[in-house]
Amino acid sequence: MKILIINGPNLGNIGKREIKIYGNDNFLVYLESLKSHFPEFEISYFQSHIEGEIISKLHESNNKIDGIVLNAGAFSHTSVAIRDAVAAIETPVVMLHISNVYAREKFRFTNIIAPVCKGIITGFGLNSYKLALESFKHL
Ligand code: DQA
Repeated sequence: MKILIINGPNLGNIGKREIKIYGNDNFLVYLESLKSHFPEFEISYFQSHIEGEIISKLHESNNKIDGIVLNAGAFSHTSVAIRDAVAAIETPVVMLHISNVYAREKFRFTNIIAPVCKGIITGFGLNSYKLALESFKHL
């Protein structure tokens, strides 16, 4: 099963960014541990700060990838365009957040993309990625 992890804006420097919220584990190191934890999955990774690049990646992945794990970062709260791309493709998308967005500022309570995803995981630190990947075993 091919799984693509997409990280959106400001998620390229997890481990250095706002460590009180996102922790100090380097994402690329964590990614390697995810790959060993899920030998049954072929895991690829894409990160972009650019909305259009994320949209192109979603379309490119349609029917080529079996599942997408998406942390759209701040675009989760704003991007109708990414929502439309998720709705347009057949590949199931599980959304996640590292932090518990519902324990943070009110503007993070709105998630434009979540309604067109299979589900959403939020608040388990980097282990949100592990839980999102785990969910593909049950879809
Ligand atoms: C985030 C939560 C978003 O509100 C924020 O803009 C991010 C990271 C998370 O993983 O907790 O960039 O998606």
